[in-house]
Amino acid sequence: MCGIVGIIGRQPAAPVLLEGLARLEYRGYDSAGVAVIAPSGLRVHKAEGRVAHLAATLPKRFGGTVGIGHTRWATHGEPTDANAHPHTDARGQLAVIHNGIVENVEALRALLPAGTELRSETDTEVLAHLISAQEADDLEERVRLALLLVEGAYGIAVVDARQPDRIVVARNGSPVLLAIGDREMLIASDAAAVVRHTDQVVHLDDGELAVVRADGYRTSTLEGEPTDKAPQTSTVSAVAHDLGDHAHHMHKEIHEQPEAVERALRGRVDARFATAHLGGLDLTPRDVLALRRVKVLGCGSAYYAGLYGAGLVESLARIPADAETASELRYRNPIVEPDTLYVAVSQSGETIDTLAAVQEIQRKGGTVIGIVNTPGSTIARACGSGIFLHAGHEVSVTSTKTFTSTGVAFALLGLLLGRTRDLGPADGRRLLDGLAALPDAIAGALAIEDEAAAAAKAIAEVDSVFFIGRLGGYVAALEGAQKLKEVSYVHAEAYPAAELKHGPLALITPEIPTVAVVPDDELWEKNMGSLSEIRARRGPLVVVTDSERDVGEALAVLRVPRTEPELAPLVLGIPLQLLAYHAAVHLGRDVDKPRNLAKSVTVE
Ligand code: G6P
Repeated sequence: MCGIVGIIGRQPAAPVLLEGLARLEYRGYDSAGVAVIAPSGLRVHKAEGRVAHLAATLPKRFGGTVGIGHTRWATHGEPTDANAHPHTDARGQLAVIHNGIVENVEALRALLPAGTELRSETDTEVLAHLISAQEADDLEERVRLALLLVEGAYGIAVVDARQPDRIVVARNGSPVLLAIGDREMLIASDAAAVVRHTDQVVHLDDGELAVVRADGYRTSTLEGEPTDKAPQTSTVSAVAHDLGDHAHHMHKEIHEQPEAVERALRGRVDARFATAHLGGLDLTPRDVLALRRVKVLGCGSAYYAGLYGAGLVESLARIPADAETASELRYRNPIVEPDTLYVAVSQSGETIDTLAAVQEIQRKGGTVIGIVNTPGSTIARACGSGIFLHAGHEVSVTSTKTFTSTGVAFALLGLLLGRTRDLGPADGRRLLDGLAALPDAIAGALAIEDEAAAAAKAIAEVDSVFFIGRLGGYVAALEGAQKLKEVSYVHAEAYPAAELKHGPLALITPEIPTVAVVPDDELWEKNMGSLSEIRARRGPLVVVTDSERDVGEALAVLRVPRTEPELAPLVLGIPLQLLAYHAAVHLGRDVDKPRNLAKSVTVE
């Protein structure tokens, strides 16, 4: 997490840094700072709060064509002015920005020259002093020597007023890329910060360091071995950051879902054999036949999308499938089997827990494919094969369109695995027809926005909301509860509908509403039974359904178009996104940047 940007060239650095930081804010937004090398020496400006505040308080004289900037998500130390990056050495000549966590910070502190006074609680300031203390004239050499002492994860950028013609960057576990402009170079933690300037980027690998000058770059390993890195063309577009007619990115992205689904499907339908064509997968039919298990891993909404996907793959392909949070999997010494297909799900492709789980599985000889939205991201590169979502850049911290697109990617994967095994062509065709109709079904679900907004007001002013469902409806409920709590800060909890009577029913009162996800399927009567149990305790109900049937008395009934049963959770999920969004707007929350969260979690 945390965003890093830097520029070295001919134009004034500060405006470019501030604009880049605004684009990176989704990575962390509790404080921000910039440093430039001005004619008079190093100048630093940093402040608690948002990038807009930093920009508004920037001192008038802040010139210089070399600079670095940072937006922070606090790990070591509270979000204060002092803890904001950049951090400088004692003489104020060298500045460091850092993304990640230094694990041996205590040991490093002991290596600092006697009398070094620390002005912040951060591990990054220790790095600044440590680099400064290395005995070498050259900045590159000092960074190299210091980093050889560091344990932990980092993406760093360093400038030094004594060598103002360069920025030194290095990566170990946290992304850093170089971007090649017109007689200028930029550096960033992700392409979003630099897309306005260039689409030519070079991704650093772990253990790599680069010296960046206005007219080029040189990369090497930490040990000093030169590495050969050719630029790639980034696909991140600048347009994603414009809001258009929408008040928030979350709203825009919810409404982009019909097109996002179309893009996820484009070129992937094989009508002739009623299957999916997934060019990014490296699986032969023989590999598919040999599979005995599918295991999905991810974090947050990616994990919930994975739960949906595992259920779908199991039902279509009849291969046992389940999902687990990547953070748990990586630490429990997992049994990795050669005939299991591991699927890593990550919108950003940078989530550290998911990446670590991928590496652990690969280390043990397992095959991992990625379902990722960001080409060129670390997880996409680590997996080497998989399915890109093509959902377009997602700016709002909370996932909406990428959740749905991940569901579509799993439907395609399930179809491919199923049709290679024993899913019949009629079922294959039925699912393909359902997928083709999905954008319209989602558009139909978006059309009930006004009703969802009214229901949202009714449930926003409570202490807690239950979400219930069964099977696919339960997965939709899990993600619906996640959405509500992260953007509105209303406590929400999801339960399998039948589990309600095993405990949580004790909490049902007229003050605690329940959102029930009720697909028109063979469990309809069972679900109606659960609704009656809640009604009998005078619990208010919001029912989300794709049926025209009567659901009895409720605060609100949100009806969406019907689709194939396997895809119903994706359509039923739309009103849940709208509920969360409108509850947050009603409560005046910071919808796109909820407190304490960040979109890309690259620290543990
Ligand atoms: C963070 C975000 C979540 C997201 C999760 C996984 O926690 O706040 O919205 O679902 O990371 O992110 P990924 O990029 O791996 O999908």
